[in-house]
Amino acid sequence: MQIDLLSPERFAGGQPHDQFAWLREHDPVHWHDEPGGRGFWAVSRFADVWAVDRDFATYSSGPTILIADPMSESGGFGPYKMMLMMDPPEHTAFRKLIRSEFTQPAAHLREGRIQALARQIVGAVIDKGECDFVAEVAGEMPSFVIAELMGLPLDDGRELYKLTETIHTAPEALPPGAGAAAVQKMFEYGTRLIAEKRARPADDLASKLLACEVDGRRLEDVEFLLFFLLLVDAGGDTTRNLLSGGLLALMEAPDQHRWLMADLDARLPAAREELLRWTSPVIYMRRTARRDAELGGKRVREGDKVVMYFGSANRDPEKFDRPDALVLDRPANEHIAFGTGPHGCLGQHLARIEIDAMLREVLTRMSGFELAEPIEWLPSNFISGPKRMPVRFRRA
Ligand code: HEM
Repeated sequence: MQIDLLSPERFAGGQPHDQFAWLREHDPVHWHDEPGGRGFWAVSRFADVWAVDRDFATYSSGPTILIADPMSESGGFGPYKMMLMMDPPEHTAFRKLIRSEFTQPAAHLREGRIQALARQIVGAVIDKGECDFVAEVAGEMPSFVIAELMGLPLDDGRELYKLTETIHTAPEALPPGAGAAAVQKMFEYGTRLIAEKRARPADDLASKLLACEVDGRRLEDVEFLLFFLLLVDAGGDTTRNLLSGGLLALMEAPDQHRWLMADLDARLPAAREELLRWTSPVIYMRRTARRDAELGGKRVREGDKVVMYFGSANRDPEKFDRPDALVLDRPANEHIAFGTGPHGCLGQHLARIEIDAMLREVLTRMSGFELAEPIEWLPSNFISGPKRMPVRFRRA
């Protein structure tokens, strides 16, 4: 089997599950060459991915969680970095600054508003009979929620979300400089936001971040901007891709769809977890070995890149029965779509509420889904999901 986990075209029809299956069976910690880079270990089994993600003492999140080392395209913030790329104890101190906004109780306080947003989003397309499900339905929710969280107009959330899509697209698939330009625009917006929220602080996360302290000092502007970029970025096309990929999975498994609809409220939580396992919107996170280590029988050297493939771990037959079947009532579904360990997805409670609200609204008000045109997938080896999914539907 030819293994290529880098070319965006290999992800142009969804995640490369054929390659993942081969790797798990034949070479679960596989040395992967990297044109222009030092190469990396591709980790494909659940147990190894889980162990690496939790062992921050051996596997660092710095200098980056992307396979390519930082370069001028998107890196280069001097000594500053996103929380996602820090290790404890520094990471712990930064995560603490926003943790309380993302606890389960805090996320549940937003439930009513999120359900209202879901009603509004579906209401805007319901009479059209056809739409691009990705842009017009699935993408709307996370961009609105992040806007509400940060205290921005909903329309601005939509614009910021478009920028994240560019940032997540492989540089090879974009016009030269487009990725850097998108990061730049995001920062310009963030800089205007700092001025606005300093002048008129409100009850929102942006104002709280500007007022809080780390190590007895306020955040510097660049630190605020990196938080802003992380939050807009992390919750945007991940949630969107789960919703679009999730609807696609239901369209492809009508028996499962029928099972879900027979008792939607009671069955939704289990179904949502299976859709998370099935779609695994985050393809990988990279770590860098801080010291020599043994992993799956291979000798990892200090400085080596170690890449955890969540989508592969989520189809590991050693962890899941019938991993290649969509089983919405899968018992004890311990998937790793949100990662684990110190960086485990901070937004997961909020994401679950967004997903449930949208699925409830979409599945009860719209029906008879069929693809109106072939799906176009995101040309990215980092984030997986449909980029465009034109669907026809009826009012339910
Ligand atoms: C279906 C939706 C989502 C998926 C699949 C997802 C997945 C992930 C994954 C895999 C990680 C890295 C975990 C690791 O390294 O172990 C992560 C981190 C993170 N996610 Fe999510 N995420 C989703 C939605 C969200 C939302 C809605 C938000 C916030 C609004 C969010 C905020 C974050 C943040 C801030 C981090 C970094 C945490 C840290 O470094 O400590 N995510 N997410």
